[in-house]
Amino acid sequence: MTQVYDSEAITITPRDVQFRWDDLPLHYIEGEPIATHITNVMHVTLPEGERAMVQALSDALPLVKDERLRDEMIGFIGQEEIHSTSHEDLHEYLDKHGLDVGPIVGRLSWLVDHVFNRPGLKGRAKHAWLCERLALSAALEHYTAVMGQWVLDAEALDDAVDPMMLDLIRWHGAEEVEHRNVAFDAYMYVDGSYFRRARTGVMASVLLVVIFAWGTAHLYRNDPTRKRQKFWGRQLISAVRKGLVPSGAHFVTEVPVYLRKDFHPSQMGSLDKALRYLAQSPAAQAATAH
Ligand SMILES: [Fe+2]
Ligand SMILES: [Fe+2]
Repeated sequence: MTQVYDSEAITITPRDVQFRWDDLPLHYIEGEPIATHITNVMHVTLPEGERAMVQALSDALPLVKDERLRDEMIGFIGQEEIHSTSHEDLHEYLDKHGLDVGPIVGRLSWLVDHVFNRPGLKGRAKHAWLCERLALSAALEHYTAVMGQWVLDAEALDDAVDPMMLDLIRWHGAEEVEHRNVAFDAYMYVDGSYFRRARTGVMASVLLVVIFAWGTAHLYRNDPTRKRQKFWGRQLISAVRKGLVPSGAHFVTEVPVYLRKDFHPSQMGSLDKALRYLAQSPAAQAATAH
């Protein structure tokens, strides 16, 4: 398939950021355990999801002859690898606070290795499954871009979140907006079936709801201060009202957007805002200076 590009041409480059978590408090969104754990779910689940997408796009790379798309895919792979390790670095901190992320990481890792990657497939079955993995990656990337734009826009986070944590989630969010079209374009190049895109779009939406509910419940149950906290439902409603976490409606309304036949990720979010954040992010700046 020949790609048609508009003027939004950027080079996607990995930024080799570093973070240190030695002094991070348990509730790094001050006084907001549930909002902190919803954010923690990203640290716990994203590395495995990103590893799965890196593998899918790496497997698709030999099929792509379009030079620009290849460059974007290579940039995407580099960015997602750094995202994955940056969130993984927090697992030790979470374990240190008694939150025991092992059961979640272990199950997701098994799913990625045995269900998503399915290394034993050959020939046409292997290609069909690659199309499925790319379609699922494109759908998941829709939500990471939506989340990325949300963290860039959420001014309530400015004073509420530990500054280094805020930089991690905004640097990651900005790169999600920056590379929002890549998995989608790779899927459209290799397969492009609308039916598969719609089906995996619905699957990804359900999967994310299940993972977020499961992950937040696990972290909340293991929180050593849980007995002194307000009821989790009250905390959640209050955090949404304060703008510290997005509402469920923010994501539900994205399902029909992704299912539109003429949908393309470049229609979403603000690339300008993302690039402006990356130009002044402390971690991205330090990475550039190396
Ligand atoms: Fe990412
Ligand atoms: Fe991404």
